[in-house]
Amino acid sequence: MDQTAWWASGSFWRKTAIWVTGASLVALIFLSIDSLVKISAGSQRVPAYTVVNQRVDYVLNEERHVQQPKIGAEQPLFGRKLDAEQAEALVRHGKLTVQAKNCMDCHTLLGNGAYYAPDLTKAWLDPAWGSAAEREKAMVEFLLDPTDNARNTLGRRMPNLHLTEDEAKSVTGFLKWMAAIDTNGFPYNFTPMKQEN
Ligand code: HEC
Repeated sequence: MDQTAWWASGSFWRKTAIWVTGASLVALIFLSIDSLVKISAGSQRVPAYTVVNQRVDYVLNEERHVQQPKIGAEQPLFGRKLDAEQAEALVRHGKLTVQAKNCMDCHTLLGNGAYYAPDLTKAWLDPAWGSAAEREKAMVEFLLDPTDNARNTLGRRMPNLHLTEDEAKSVTGFLKWMAAIDTNGFPYNFTPMKQEN
């Protein structure tokens, strides 16, 4: 008897391979589009760039058991309210500066990068800036000269990366926008700055 069982035939496995590859491709395309929608600015968890005009708090959501951003009243960055286009340009410039200066060599952003220096995801909300009123000024001063303005909470110093004032302000905008992203509680155990009510 020379008949092969159906499950042992080459044609069965060829067809199975084609169907599995096809179905995986469809699932991959669907998941990629779904992820792109979820990580786009202006979606449910990633705010629009104009969030730089608003107050950003980080509060405990009892139901989810995670800290999540709370977007509050108007609080323009550097005292100037930006329209959608200007806000996007600011955040984009900040992001490009962070990439060009390789901040990830030492820092993590949204968990990606190196572990030499603090994670920058919620750096905007770090109590070490003093107060909410002083923060943007302190941040720009620090970025322009991190060695002289060292806080040294880690016993390590950040080198001067020679940012221009424009770059330092854009990075501040980028970090404020990033702090407003709902990261599902990341970084865990982060204590945000107390803000006046
Ligand atoms: C060579 C390593 C290194 C590089 C590169 C680096 N940093 Fe830092 N950064 C540090 C260290 C170390 C600290 C902690 C310094 C302190 O506490 O005084 C720090 C602290 C900071 C803080 C304060 C963090 C907080 O939670 O309050 C910010 C903001 C920051 N860096 C932004 C940047 C940006 C933006 C870049 C890129 C333009 C950058 N860093 C590149 C080492 C680095």
